[in-house]
Amino acid sequence: MTRRGKVTVVGSGFYGSTTVLRLAEYDIFESVVITDIIEGKPEGIALDINQSRSVENFETKVIGATTTAEGGGYEKTANSDVVIITAGLPRKPGMSRMDLIDVNAKIVRQVAENIAKHSPNAVIIVVSNPLDEMTALAQLATKFPHNRVMGQAGMLDTARFTHFVAEKANVPISAVKTLTLGSHGETMVPVPSRCTVNGKALSEVLSATEIAELVDRTRNGGAEIVALLKTGSAYYAPSAAAARMAKAVIEDAKVVMPVCAWVDGQYGISGVYLGVEAEIGKHGVNKIVETKLTDSELSALKSAAEAVRAARVAPGGIATLILPSDVSWGDGGAPAPAAVGARFSLAEQRRPGIERERIAAIVRKTLAGAMQQGQRLAHLRAMFRIGPAHRHAVEKSHHRSRSSSETA
Ligand code: 2OP
Repeated sequence: MTRRGKVTVVGSGFYGSTTVLRLAEYDIFESVVITDIIEGKPEGIALDINQSRSVENFETKVIGATTTAEGGGYEKTANSDVVIITAGLPRKPGMSRMDLIDVNAKIVRQVAENIAKHSPNAVIIVVSNPLDEMTALAQLATKFPHNRVMGQAGMLDTARFTHFVAEKANVPISAVKTLTLGSHGETMVPVPSRCTVNGKALSEVLSATEIAELVDRTRNGGAEIVALLKTGSAYYAPSAAAARMAKAVIEDAKVVMPVCAWVDGQYGISGVYLGVEAEIGKHGVNKIVETKLTDSELSALKSAAEAVRAARVAPGGIATLILPSDVSWGDGGAPAPAAVGARFSLAEQRRPGIERERIAAIVRKTLAGAMQQGQRLAHLRAMFRIGPAHRHAVEKSHHRSRSSSETA
């Protein structure tokens, strides 16, 4: 049997280490690398898993690598075909995934930059939370094409929905097909119209109330486990989902899976990472596969897209975290990829006496202020697209926020 491909899993918590074990036991990869910033932990896990090879009968080699935020130790991950990013903190009981955005964005961004340096052709699978936002962040930080950066969520949420339906209908798991789209959060969109039990529509098998309960339970599937575990979040089902995605990439399987992918035009939604069905192959997402949805499912998907977009520009969101140290920030006149999806040239706005950190702070305030005032993304886009108008808006907001903070 020929084994091929190198997969790196960043983070050796429960999610990371379980994913590595699953990948190794598939016995189809040449090597699987596990990393962590905790010295010795990834090496210890690698040694332990390697020692199980003669018992479980697999040849795939597991390699442990202690890394640093500055990029130390990443040589061992070099030229990976797939990189799964699990780094970051899990939720605690009562927390929403969005509560992690601040701390996890810093970690994911560093990891993504280091990965991009050492594995410039990799397909990235993000699993850190908040998932849709961290996937978008990884794409911005790696500057990889959108198709090579995706997130794991739909596979997991769909698997949860399938489990709940099988239990309720009292049928084997293999009799059930379900689908979950949307965000990996409150705007998750389980799709009952696409679910079947032994080939029959779900609505013929369960009552509307039962279906609504299962939809709700699916939406809260992660939180239910967090509340039970008390420390940490789920990892058996999540790792199964992430490992299958990596397998599909290495095998160039061209299989259709629900994943968090860049949506640009499908379902009338543009420019956002969102849970949809996509064909997965060696380049990551080959194409988004649109499915027939009911009107209410489609409108829920559109609301999910808006929610993910809003989170990107919300105070503390990705915009805030990306803007200050973006490398193309005004240097050489290159357009800075503003996290709101708009493009504006910082060089254009740079004036003597105003340092880039200062501009960044003003832009952050503007973004935050605009969101608080409930301005729509379209307005933000328009505002940032035009240099002078943007300058004007920034200055106005700056004066406003200065006078309000002085009077506060
Ligand atoms: C979950 O839903 C880990 O976000 C993941 O359990």
